Amino acid sequence: MGTPSSNLNVVILAAGKGTRMYSKQPKVLHDIGGMSMLARVIHTAQSLQPQSISVVIGHGKEAVKANIDTAVTWIEQTEQLGTGHAVKTALPFLSHSGRTLVLYGDVPLIDTPTLQDLLHTAGDEVGLLTDVLDNPTGYGRIIREHGQVVAIVEEKDANAAQKAIHETNTGIFVLPNHKLPEWLGALQSNNAQGEYYLTDVIALAQRDSVAVHPLQVRASWLAAGVNNKVQLAELERILQREQAQALLKAGITLRDPARFDLRGTLQHGQDVVIDVNVVLEGDVVLGDDVQIGANCVIKNAHIGSGTVIQPNCHLENCTIGEAAQIGPFARLRPNACIGNEVHIGNFVEVKNSTLGTGSKANHLTYLGDASIGEHTNIGAGTITCNYDGVNKYKTIIGDEVRIGSGNMLVAPVEIGHKATTGAGSTISKNCPAGELTLARARQTTIKGWVRPEKPKTA
Ligand code: UD1
Ligand code: CA
Repeated sequence: MGTPSSNLNVVILAAGKGTRMYSKQPKVLHDIGGMSMLARVIHTAQSLQPQSISVVIGHGKEAVKANIDTAVTWIEQTEQLGTGHAVKTALPFLSHSGRTLVLYGDVPLIDTPTLQDLLHTAGDEVGLLTDVLDNPTGYGRIIREHGQVVAIVEEKDANAAQKAIHETNTGIFVLPNHKLPEWLGALQSNNAQGEYYLTDVIALAQRDSVAVHPLQVRASWLAAGVNNKVQLAELERILQREQAQALLKAGITLRDPARFDLRGTLQHGQDVVIDVNVVLEGDVVLGDDVQIGANCVIKNAHIGSGTVIQPNCHLENCTIGEAAQIGPFARLRPNACIGNEVHIGNFVEVKNSTLGTGSKANHLTYLGDASIGEHTNIGAGTITCNYDGVNKYKTIIGDEVRIGSGNMLVAPVEIGHKATTGAGSTISKNCPAGELTLARARQTTIKGWVRPEKPKTA
């Protein structure tokens, strides 16, 4: 084993078409765990703090570039002439010394510890991540002599004895940069597929007495590739299982780890309980003792300690304070800022609005562009009429206000502290503090009125 060098270049191969995905989208842009496969591989590569990350693209290159917002070096491979050719295309962007780590854009679950192990194992020589598969069909086979790896033979070039080998190439390599111009320049395409195989560098390393250090991956899924939606779905399940296990080990209660999906990151306190069929997306933070009921979808949300989210809520880009109660069937839209001990009940929608401590909107209500003080109650069926079709306006409601049921609050409008509005009011002017305001037609009864009736036919 040589001494590891700190200079690291990463090359990610992502030029392939992905025909078997049957999709308009390039293969590497398909999501796994809420992140495109390529973005995930780039993210993992970044964790190694390399000098550079180069991504070799071809099919769907414009879409790929447009969908990745990390700064990487894009390398166009106009014709996909093989994995060796792909790395050769990246050669002008690699250092003269140090090492290059080759990853695949469609092997999404490779993790940092595995790559660190491989870099350590490789030293300044060649590192090769291998796997042992029950069914190795389709993979390059590892050829050993006296225990040493001397070559990799592709399925299509293999003889019967070689095909019987279960030790396979995952495709992930560590290579010494100073050898790359020579080795990649020497690759030939005189094989069954007429391609320039990166795997042929193993035989060249052997020729040049550069040791090849294989490392067997600790679980097959870490190095599993995605060629179709079946494999994508399988890896998604594995990722979800792994994430759920980690959360359980960290003390979260998942009522059923098989019915929980995390498509992003979750930070959590103690004694968090999550019921079945909950989907968390983006960045979610849950304080101590938070409870999430069944069938909730929560995206980019910060939920304070002791808050209970009842079943069937949809929460997105919002913050909720401590000891609040949300739902069932509540919808919090972007910029909903819910204070401590607030109650948001069924069929209540809140967008770009603030509710102060202890305020309640319990039934059938829309609050948009509203600022609501503390300990205020919003009656059932109330709507902030915030939009005239062109502009949006604010509704400002003070502390300890009582908005009656079925109010239309026509913004811009202000309701003073401790004001009360009558049920069924259409409030289009400001309401003074402490007073009762009614804005509805007076009820009248027409005495002696006779209801018309259809003439009876004989
Ligand atoms: C490759 C390996 C094989 C290994 C297998 C693991 C070679 C010759 N074979 O085979 O030993 O067992 O991976 O999955 O390396 N790509 C490009 N440009 C190209 C060709 C490929 O960017 O010109 C990319 C593909 O998009 C893909 C990756 O490289 O992400 C692997 O290519 P693929 O054609 O799938 O290689 P395999 O034949 O599966
Ligand atoms: Ca493949």
